[in-house]
Amino acid sequence: MPKVLIATEKPFAAPAVEKIKAVFEAAGYEQVWLESYTDPADLHAAVADVDAMIIRSDKVDEAVFNAAKNLKIVVRAGAGYDNIDLAAATAHNVVAMNTPGQNSNAVAELALAMMIYMARGKFNGKSGSELAGKKLVLYGFGYIPRFLTKMAQGIGMEVFAYDPYLSDATITKEGVTPLHKVEDIFSTGDYISLHIPATAETKKSINWDLLSLVKDGCILVNTARKEVIDEDALLKAFEEKKKFRYVSDVEPDCSDKLAELYPDRSYWTPKKMGAQTGEANINAGVASAKQIIGFLEKGDTTFKVN
Ligand code: 3PG
Repeated sequence: MPKVLIATEKPFAAPAVEKIKAVFEAAGYEQVWLESYTDPADLHAAVADVDAMIIRSDKVDEAVFNAAKNLKIVVRAGAGYDNIDLAAATAHNVVAMNTPGQNSNAVAELALAMMIYMARGKFNGKSGSELAGKKLVLYGFGYIPRFLTKMAQGIGMEVFAYDPYLSDATITKEGVTPLHKVEDIFSTGDYISLHIPATAETKKSINWDLLSLVKDGCILVNTARKEVIDEDALLKAFEEKKKFRYVSDVEPDCSDKLAELYPDRSYWTPKKMGAQTGEANINAGVASAKQIIGFLEKGDTTFKVN
C-alpha cells in the first residue's frame, strides 16, 4: 500500500482535507497529515518512509530529499514551484509536479480586490477612483491573468499583456492588446499586475530601469512573488512618484519603511492568501492527489516540472 504525506505549513481548508482523504482512501493509500508545522525537523521525520508527498509553499530542499528514502513524487498543490529544489529532486530521482490553473481564479479575484481596495484609498471614506476606463497591464499571460482579464473587462478596463512566450494571436483572442517590450508594461499601465514566476532571471528584475517608467498614479499589484521586485527601486518609486501605490499578497522585506513612510500608498496581506479559498484548496488538493495516483499507478507524468 503506497504511503503519502500531506505536508502543509499553511493547511488546506477542512472541506478540501475531507475530499483529498476520500480520494486516497478510495485508492487504498495510507495517509500521513502534517499540518501547521514550524520545525523542518518535523517534515524530515514525516517524509522518511513515504512514497509521495503533497505540499503548498512548504520548502522542499536537499535536506528533505535526503531524509526521504522512498520518495518518488512531490506535488506542489498550486502554481509556483520555486519552493522546490528541482535539481535536488532530479538527483534523488523524484518527480516534481505542480497543478497549473487549479487555484488561479482565487488569485485573480484577490488581485481585483486589491486593485479596488487601493483605488478607494484603502476604504478610508475619502474620494477615490474607479477602475472602469483605466488601463490594466498584465505581466505574464498564464492562467491567473486570463481569469483577471475577464473580470477587468467586465468592469470596463482596457487590458494589455506582455508575455514573451506567447504569440500575439493567443493574447488578442482574449480581447487583450499584446505589448512587445517589457518597458511598455511600465509606461502603459494605470494598473500593473505581476504574473511571473520567481526564477534566476526574474528575481529583482523589476528594477529602477522599469519602475522609473511608471505613471505617477500607477498602482502596482503583486500576487506573484516578492523576490521579483528590486525593493530599493520600489522605495525610490515611492519617493519620486508621489502618487505611486503598491499592493502585495505577501509582506515585502521593506515593510517597516513602507509602513512608516507610505502607509496610505501601500498594503500587503499578513500571510499569502491568494489561493486561500475553500474552492482553490479543493481544486488544487484533489488534483494533486489524482496526479500522485496517476503517476504511481500508470506512470503519468503530465505536469512534471523537473
Ligand atoms: C501558488 O503558487 O499556487 C500560490 O502562490 C499559492 O500558494 P499557497 O498554496 O502557499 O497559498
